[in-house]
Amino acid sequence: MTELILSLDVLDRKRAVEIAEAASPCIDAVKIGYPLVLAAGLGIARDLGGLGLPLIADFKVADIPNTNRLICEQVFAAGFDAVIAHGFTGTDAARACVAAAHDSGGACYVVVEMSHPGATEFFHGGTAERLANLAVDCRADGIIAPATRPDRISVLREIVGSKAIYSPGVGAQGGDPEIVARLVDGIIVGRSIYEAPDPAVAAREFARIRR
Ligand code: XMP
Repeated sequence: MTELILSLDVLDRKRAVEIAEAASPCIDAVKIGYPLVLAAGLGIARDLGGLGLPLIADFKVADIPNTNRLICEQVFAAGFDAVIAHGFTGTDAARACVAAAHDSGGACYVVVEMSHPGATEFFHGGTAERLANLAVDCRADGIIAPATRPDRISVLREIVGSKAIYSPGVGAQGGDPEIVARLVDGIIVGRSIYEAPDPAVAAREFARIRR
């Protein structure tokens, strides 16, 4: 089954909880990033804990190993179940995130190629492939790869094998959920759900990919 992950980039705590609750029957996890955490505080993880869904901290951690470890320890202490880290800072830095995640019983996913147009400036030309190999070497639980470029997902799948691939860029950024869902373990959807007139209905529509 391909999972549906709600990217909850709303800025109001109450609205965030309402949307997550409304969508919860149709989703498999909630991804929370800087917009919501900076607006509502890390306590949002506890506020959403009652949903019983995995909470992914999309902090794209990208510092030296010691700082990465300190950041990830705070993430898991706050109640998150997984963290997203960058790989470009190097194997030791990514490995620190993976170790902190696994020490807490959580998961770590490494960004290997991003979904926006500008990502091609740096991630193409072999870099994404190197980052995918780094994710394997670090024993990361999976990678983040772009729904906007299904051909690239297929290339990266060859490298990571059965490791999880989670893919943002569906909907608002143009990625086709039907195509991408066949290639990945989970699609990540934000605006197309939380900006919809009825987020519960929108989530149900996307959840058809879970079949
Ligand atoms: P939308 O509204 O575009 O939200 O559906 C997408 C969410 O995913 C994040 N995002 C990414 N995260 N690598 C990542 O690690 C990516 O390539 C990428 N593209 C989008 C984005 O910040 C938002 O939360």
